[in-house]
Amino acid sequence: MAAPGRNAVSTSVVLSCLLATLLLAAGSSSAQLSTGFYASSCPELLDAVRSALRPAVARERRVAASILRLFFHDCFVQGCDGSLLLDDASGLKGEKNAAPNKDSARGFDVVDAVKAAVEKACPGVVSCADVLAASAMEGVALLGGPRWKVKMGRRDSTTASFNGAENDIPPPTSGLANLTRLFAAKGLSQKDMVALSGAHTIGLARCTNFRDHIYNDTDIDAGFAGTLQQRCPRATGSGDNNLAPLDLQTPNVFENAYYKNLVAKKSLLHSDQELFNGGAADAQVREYVGSQSAFFADFVEGMVKMGDVTPLTGSNGQIRKNCRRVN
Ligand code: HEM
Ligand SMILES: *[C@@H]1O[C@H](CO)[C@@H](O)[C@H](O)[C@H]1NC(C)=O
Ligand SMILES: *[C@@H]1O[C@H](CO)[C@@H](O)[C@H](O)[C@H]1NC(C)=O
Repeated sequence: MAAPGRNAVSTSVVLSCLLATLLLAAGSSSAQLSTGFYASSCPELLDAVRSALRPAVARERRVAASILRLFFHDCFVQGCDGSLLLDDASGLKGEKNAAPNKDSARGFDVVDAVKAAVEKACPGVVSCADVLAASAMEGVALLGGPRWKVKMGRRDSTTASFNGAENDIPPPTSGLANLTRLFAAKGLSQKDMVALSGAHTIGLARCTNFRDHIYNDTDIDAGFAGTLQQRCPRATGSGDNNLAPLDLQTPNVFENAYYKNLVAKKSLLHSDQELFNGGAADAQVREYVGSQSAFFADFVEGMVKMGDVTPLTGSNGQIRKNCRRVN
């Protein structure tokens, strides 16, 4: 009569193995991020983010754009783990001097101010990666864009990847196929890529990033190119850092103007115009021209998916005190 007992034991062993496997599978995805993560440990989080960000954006509207871009560049390198925020240090080669970020990524001082406000409310609780995710959302909302429930629970890396920043973030010379490929490498679809590119309805770019497009490309409105040529000289090395708005009319307002520019062949970047160039993304661009609410809905979906890219969770990583250095 020992047999039933042994069966019961082996059944429970099988069941707990199954459970462990399921938990492991969940742990390797983004299942642990949740909108209520700080509900009891830091209920003041979003108020603190907003009260620190609002005066900074009032001083300079562009900084909301700069912080949105920081979130993108953080998530595309090792996942959304605050690695971009780390300064170079002995034994740590940061991401700030990699090609897509050098002389370009900005707003770190404002992220520091938001983190300081959050630390004051809830010391040692909220990661820099989550501060950045919340700030990106709040910045978009402050410029007139949508607001959404940001998933939280990311932890901060103790490492950075200079090579990841050089290789995984698409350059503005990219064609549609490479844009799609580099987003797919992060688990994002072409649809997500087209919706997330609407971020270029705010912010500025440097001459060095749009020079070839305004002098050499044919898929650009001639008058628009001529106007830009006045502030971006042809010769490499002259005026490289001169700025122009990514959305020529309203670079401080988050709306669907970016897509209207694409249809008018008035995109600042070569990569932007690739989204409306007789290819597979044209229909989606036209959809957003006709419906700002469709754009907002897909942008939010894309931001949530991008925020899910391989976060550190549980007991991995740390909650940095200072976003610029490992504790
Ligand atoms: C689709 C591929 C993308 C490419 C090739 C690209 C490329 C660029 C480039 C070259 C600049 C100008 C940088 C400079 O000249 O200093 C820029 C600016 C910007 N990008 Fe992107 N980007 C892409 C996607 C995204 C995404 C997904 C987001 C956010 C969701 C984003 C947000 C921004 C913002 C807000 C700015 C303006 C930043 C500021 O004014 O400081 N970009 N991007
Ligand atoms: C696409 O990416 C490959 C690999 O990095 C590169 O060799 C090629 O020049 C890129 N093409 C375009 C159009 O961006
Ligand atoms: C444009 O194309 C020509 C010929 O390929 C090249 O020499 C030049 O560097 C390119 N860029 C600009 C800004 O003229």
